[in-house]
Amino acid sequence: MRLPLVIATAVCLVVSGCGKPGEEPVVVEETHAAHWEKVLPGLMTETQKAQQELVLTATNALASELMGELTAALDQGGPAAGITVCREKAPQVAANVSETYGLRIGRTSHRLRNTANSGPAWSEAYVAGLEGEPTWVAGPNGELGALLPIRLRAECQMCHGPAEMIADEVMAAIRANYPEDQAVGFTEGELRGWFWVEVPPGEPGV
Ligand code: HEC
Repeated sequence: MRLPLVIATAVCLVVSGCGKPGEEPVVVEETHAAHWEKVLPGLMTETQKAQQELVLTATNALASELMGELTAALDQGGPAAGITVCREKAPQVAANVSETYGLRIGRTSHRLRNTANSGPAWSEAYVAGLEGEPTWVAGPNGELGALLPIRLRAECQMCHGPAEMIADEVMAAIRANYPEDQAVGFTEGELRGWFWVEVPPGEPGV
């Protein structure tokens, strides 16, 4: 774990008294992610609790709107058509929810279907570590970041499940739309990815 050390060093430099007088200052390579620190729900400030509340409301809205679009797509054209509908609608729905709640929201995964779905820099270490619990991080200017695990359910398997559960025409549509797809072969209950949310600094005004 390099990250905590980098943070500790950065804090140490700010607090002063770490280096002896006349010593060259230690140059800490600063990454954007290094400024985001995990915060436990029990230790949140009132502002962070309000931000957390907004995260949960917005995530529920995104999840249910995506399910609505998915159900409609499956009713209309079946799973193969669902692939193209998902491709067009999923980013649009996320953008709408972002705007409605005044935050940034999206979905990501360690095995992406759409390579455009990579998460923010602060989320990368948790994604790589396959974090299975909801994770809250405080940003450098008072932002609150959240990474909330998404597990595969039975109804997801027709598009993300083991190869034998995916119809040929669905697989063809996946290959055609997402040549770099890594999002098949998941089993029910497996960690499929995460919702990520970033709430701007300050008391949310919604
Ligand atoms: C009709 C096929 C279909 C079904 C059913 C489906 N998905 Fe997807 N899924 C897709 C497509 C297509 C994308 C890429 C959307 C995009 O381009 O942003 C996607 C993207 C995702 C992503 C975003 C990360 C990435 O890999 O790009 C997650 C997370 C995800 N799906 C989870 C689920 C879960 C959980 C379910 C079940 C509740 C589910 N999906 C059901 C087709 C489907």
